Amino acid sequence: MNLNGTTINRLLFRAEKVYRKEEPSLKTGIHKHPTFDTWFLVTQRSTYVIGATADGYLVNLHWGNRLERLDDLNATMQDVFFSQNPPPTYATEELPVFGGLRFRDNVLKAELPDGTRELNLLFAGNANITEGYILDVDLRDGYRTELLVTLHYELDIENDIIRRSYTIRNGLDKRINLSKAFSAAWHLPTALGSDEKREILTLAGEWAAEAMVESTELRPGVTHVVQSQRGFPSHVSYPYFAIRQVPSDVNPSTEVYFGAIGWSGSWEITAHTSLFGTTRVVGGMHHQDFGWTLEPNESFTTPIFVAGFTSEGMPGARKLLPRHVRKYQQKNLETQKDSNVFHPVLYNSWEAVTFNVTAEKQLELAEIAAPLGIELFVIDDGWFGDRNNDSAGLGDWYVNEEKFPNGLKPVADRVHELGMKFGLWFESEGVNPNSDLYREHPDWVFYYEGIPRYEARSQLVLNLALPEVREYVYDRMATLIAENDIDYIKWDMNRPWGEVTMHDYDRNPREAWVLSIREGFYYIVDKLKAEFPKLWIESCASGGGRMDIGVVEKTDQVWTSDNTRPDARIMIQYGASLFLPPRVMYGWVTNSPWDEGIHIPLSFRFHVSFQGGLGIGSNIHEYTEDELEESAGWIELYKKIRPVIQNGDLDWLVQPSRMSELVAVSQTTSHDQSEAVVLGYRFNSPFSTPLNWIRLRNLDKSARYSVKVWTSSPHDVDEEYEMSGALLMHKGILLTSLNNAQFKSAVVWLKRN
Ligand code: GLA
Repeated sequence: MNLNGTTINRLLFRAEKVYRKEEPSLKTGIHKHPTFDTWFLVTQRSTYVIGATADGYLVNLHWGNRLERLDDLNATMQDVFFSQNPPPTYATEELPVFGGLRFRDNVLKAELPDGTRELNLLFAGNANITEGYILDVDLRDGYRTELLVTLHYELDIENDIIRRSYTIRNGLDKRINLSKAFSAAWHLPTALGSDEKREILTLAGEWAAEAMVESTELRPGVTHVVQSQRGFPSHVSYPYFAIRQVPSDVNPSTEVYFGAIGWSGSWEITAHTSLFGTTRVVGGMHHQDFGWTLEPNESFTTPIFVAGFTSEGMPGARKLLPRHVRKYQQKNLETQKDSNVFHPVLYNSWEAVTFNVTAEKQLELAEIAAPLGIELFVIDDGWFGDRNNDSAGLGDWYVNEEKFPNGLKPVADRVHELGMKFGLWFESEGVNPNSDLYREHPDWVFYYEGIPRYEARSQLVLNLALPEVREYVYDRMATLIAENDIDYIKWDMNRPWGEVTMHDYDRNPREAWVLSIREGFYYIVDKLKAEFPKLWIESCASGGGRMDIGVVEKTDQVWTSDNTRPDARIMIQYGASLFLPPRVMYGWVTNSPWDEGIHIPLSFRFHVSFQGGLGIGSNIHEYTEDELEESAGWIELYKKIRPVIQNGDLDWLVQPSRMSELVAVSQTTSHDQSEAVVLGYRFNSPFSTPLNWIRLRNLDKSARYSVKVWTSSPHDVDEEYEMSGALLMHKGILLTSLNNAQFKSAVVWLKRN
């Protein structure tokens, strides 16, 4: 077997000639070429082609616009071979490993029993297509043929997205150790001329400032890295990328490649661009301190890394990925199957009373919440153990008897009687040293012998990889859910992980990074969903620290940020809506300390939360009659527009910006274009310039729409008119009520006549 790769170009060139014969047109789905080991993955608007060279390299041959026929493929590889860059380095290998003549970012690294630390994976001659949209391709190590890798591809045909992962199986008779197991490599074709530019768009953040959109030019020779090393996806970056062609005087391209990792632990994505203009993106579970042992006959499957292509710019990418995530959420979760079951309007008293939850106070709030139209009443932190602040009680999942003398059941019953669902907060991965659980089981946390245990928010991290720990957690949660008829839980996580290891473990102790997610967090969430199919779960990690697409496929919704100041929230929702379906992204209306001293009207607060799932977090006990009436009115309106909001595509017509806090406008449109909701916001602006025309999108241009506008009051329609789809899109609308205004907003509801 020739592994130096010099024959790659030659063999593919031969293949190209054969492809020039007339071939039948390509339908969507996965097709194998009749002659060659080449597979065409065809979605509505894109095609991804992989093929094995005669030497056995499995390479990407095309990713981009849809190919119509087999002979549309030009399989010639760009010849960038010289001694410093042997072909495997620049080959567009589907699974570039550490080893051989590969000197670019790789996906997989293993240490073999004889001490060799490289692999040589080649096409094994086997590939299976299942149901027309799933492809499994086997690779085998060229020298240790018992080492097998199966690459998995699953097509989301309607959303132009490919889901990738792979399974590595150790067929050797001794153990091997993995030290890196990213999920996939993606190869973007060469950018056009030398003056052409590509930009990578990523999401940065901090606690209370999640998902801030950042973009920067991809420069040759530079590797762009985004990551979390914190044990959970975190706020600092999000496992998402989009790479777009920057249009120039000679190139009008609006092509975008985008992707996201479905993994709720540490992760990394890197994008390297060569001087030849090719970009390789690799990513998956973070490799820092990662380790996994494969005993003979054991296998390991990576998390998914999904990616897609669109020629419709960032609005296209923003439509396809959330639709994809929604589709898989719907596939996986009983609670999400029916799109006509809407996410509830919830009340949560965390910002209003923090840890001071008592049966009496919560019931008072519930009595006020129900007539407002609230559908889910949630008790947040503070209901259990000795939990009066964040320094004690975490881990003691027993109802605090001083605060709830008769337990939670009477509260849950009354909430149900009032017509609301009942929800409860948990933070099942954390423990305060000042808790009964820790006093009893100090060895249930991550720790190293002989050094002090680091505390953050006065807490340590439970090692959910240990079966006794996860069973304790599961058992406490399941018992409380069953005993109190709990309909919803908020699963929080407030501490980055450290000292992650296993004790008395005869395998690799570094497995703890993966085990505590897979066998801990995911295990418990899946088991709860199986045991209580109607249970709704919200994922939270100090706000939006855990909202990767993997968690969204297992849970119902995410808490996008602890920062409920509406103008900050808009920025956060702008970033998060790149990958989150709108219904998943929760925002509360509050009168929180975040905006103390600034007057932001209640209407503005509601309209910001109208972009996704609506919650109320204010101290409604202190609301005036007028405020209660207004809130009830907005909630009623929200319920009318939520079929569009929760099932539509959230697009942005005017982008919010950290620099100029003037205005932002979004438009959510139903898939059949029959309805849309435009939300316009005017921030605290030093200028009084009137707003420009706002041109809408994605409407039916030949239809007429009736348009209704609300601004300050849910009870008064400000404007009502009819307009054609063409006019709404070509000329647009004027939100005159936002002229010369501070913190003023408008809801525009359009319905096709
Ligand atoms: C985190 C969450 C909040 C709240 C508190 C409770 O910060 O993000 O919403 O639940 O914990 O301690």
